[in-house]
Amino acid sequence: MKKKKPTSLKQALKKKLNKKELSLVVTSYDMVGDIAIIEIPIELEKKEKIIAKTLLDLHKNINVVVKKAGVHKGVYRTQNMFILAGEDRKETVHRENNIEIKLDIEKVYFSVRLSTERKRIMEQVKKDEEVLVMFSGVSPYCLVIAKNTDAKRVYGVEINPAAHKYAEENVKLNKLDGKIKLYNGDVRMVVPRLRKKFDRVLMPLPKEGEGFLDVALKAVKEEGRIHFYDFEHEKDINLAKEKVKESCRKFKKKCRILRTVKCGQVGPREYRLCVDFKVIS
Ligand SMILES: C[S@@+](CC[C@H](N)C(=O)[O-])C[C@H]1O[C@@H](n2cnc3c(N)ncnc32)[C@H](O)[C@@H]1O
Repeated sequence: MKKKKPTSLKQALKKKLNKKELSLVVTSYDMVGDIAIIEIPIELEKKEKIIAKTLLDLHKNINVVVKKAGVHKGVYRTQNMFILAGEDRKETVHRENNIEIKLDIEKVYFSVRLSTERKRIMEQVKKDEEVLVMFSGVSPYCLVIAKNTDAKRVYGVEINPAAHKYAEENVKLNKLDGKIKLYNGDVRMVVPRLRKKFDRVLMPLPKEGEGFLDVALKAVKEEGRIHFYDFEHEKDINLAKEKVKESCRKFKKKCRILRTVKCGQVGPREYRLCVDFKVIS
């Protein structure tokens, strides 16, 4: 009788690792295009190549297996990636929400885990809106909104030249020229120079975003919306709202908080939050 092929990673590793090692294997991983990003516990580092090669052989849609080497760092929020198996490349094309996103997983920030959040924002965009995406990266928010809504135009501002270059390429790849306008530079310098007011402003920079609330408040129209992202511990969820209220007081804007949404877990009881609020006057 023909032997059945293993269908799960643990099953496939059964003869390659001992029981203790097998119990430590992390079976979940992120897929960015055809690149699998896996997690290797310290105790399994000596077996990481075996684990990666086994995963590669198990799934036809995986062509590269990498592990994260460190955390997101610097102004560009990038992360080093270490190739463990498969082709020698870190560039891929990822698909989500009817769009294609080309990127290098090491040179730019991109998270597949935010696709639901991008959809949530997209679903709020109304016909003829002019939308500003601050900190736009390889432009996933710009692309999702431009492709799936009747927004008039979407503007993106990104400081990382590599991310900006991919963003420009992605606009062409998705045939969205004319509907998206991209700028490479610091939001603080670029946005005031646009001399424009927007119906909606997105601020996807959770770590230091509050320092740019003044820029967003100046760029939004009366009755416009701002989506402010923040990281907070479960016991401090209200702090995100307080940061918005404090900035509105400081810059003499009348605002109404619409909702605070948990849009991802980033650590034990630590969340990525989005405060949606309306600027009344
Ligand atoms: C958390 S990432 C989000 C990227 C993108 N919006 C996404 O969801 O994939 C934040 C981005 O902001 C960019 N950034 C940081 N400071 C900036 C600034 N002052 N002006 C413009 N972009 C900035 C970083 O280079 C990075 O690409």
